[in-house]
Amino acid sequence: MKLYLDTASVKELLEASVLGVLDGVTTNPSLVAKEGTNVRETLLEICAIVDGPVSVEVVGVEADEMVKEGRELAKIHKNIVVKVPSNPEGLKATKRLAAEGIKINVTLCFSPTQALLAAKAGAWCVSPFIGRLDDISSNGIDLVRQIVRIYRNYDFRTLVLVASVRHPQQIVEAALTGSDICTMPFKVFQQLIKHPLTDMGEQKFLADWNTQRHQ
Ligand code: E4P
Repeated sequence: MKLYLDTASVKELLEASVLGVLDGVTTNPSLVAKEGTNVRETLLEICAIVDGPVSVEVVGVEADEMVKEGRELAKIHKNIVVKVPSNPEGLKATKRLAAEGIKINVTLCFSPTQALLAAKAGAWCVSPFIGRLDDISSNGIDLVRQIVRIYRNYDFRTLVLVASVRHPQQIVEAALTGSDICTMPFKVFQQLIKHPLTDMGEQKFLADWNTQRHQ
C-alpha cells in the first residue's frame, strides 16, 4: 500500500520525506489555504520534495469551471492529480479531463455508488473519507471494503485511496482491505514507526552494551 501525506505544509513534507517511504501527497482547499496565497509556488515546492502524485482540488462548482481549472492545475507539474468532488458536476468534469489524459482523484466519496460512478467516468483514483464517516457513527472501513470488492469484480483500474484518516489503526485496516493508497496527516505518519517497547528495548541493549564494555 502506498503511503501519502495529507498536507500542503512544505515543512511537514521535508520532515516526512527523509524517512524514504513517502509515495505521494494529497491536499484539499482547507489545507492549501493555510499555507499562504501563492498556490502555484507552494505546489511546485511540494512537487520538488516528493517525487510522486500530488492531488490538488478544484474550487469551481460547475463542470466547465472544474475542467478549466483542472487543465491549469495539470500544467503546473507532471505529478499533479486533479481532485474533483463526487457529485454530478464533478462526474462530468472527470469524464472530460480523464479523456484528455489528466489524472483525476474523485474526492469526498461517502458511498459505494459514488465510487462506482467515479470508476466508470475514468477516475485515476477515488477517495473514500473514512474518518468523517466514523465521526457520524457510520463505518468508514466498511465502505472501503465494498469499493475494493466492486472494483475487483469488474476489473476497474481506478485506485482506492483511503482518506480522512485519524489514527494508525485505520491504516492497518485499510491495508487489510487491499486498498492501493492511504493518505494521512503528518501526526499519524509519525506514529506509524513509534512503539514504546522498541524504545525501551533499544535503551536496554545500549545500557547492557556499555556496562559490559566498561568492566
Ligand atoms: C484527502 O484527500 C483529504 O484531504 C483528507 O483526507 C480529509 O481529511 P479530514 O476529514 O481529516 O479533513
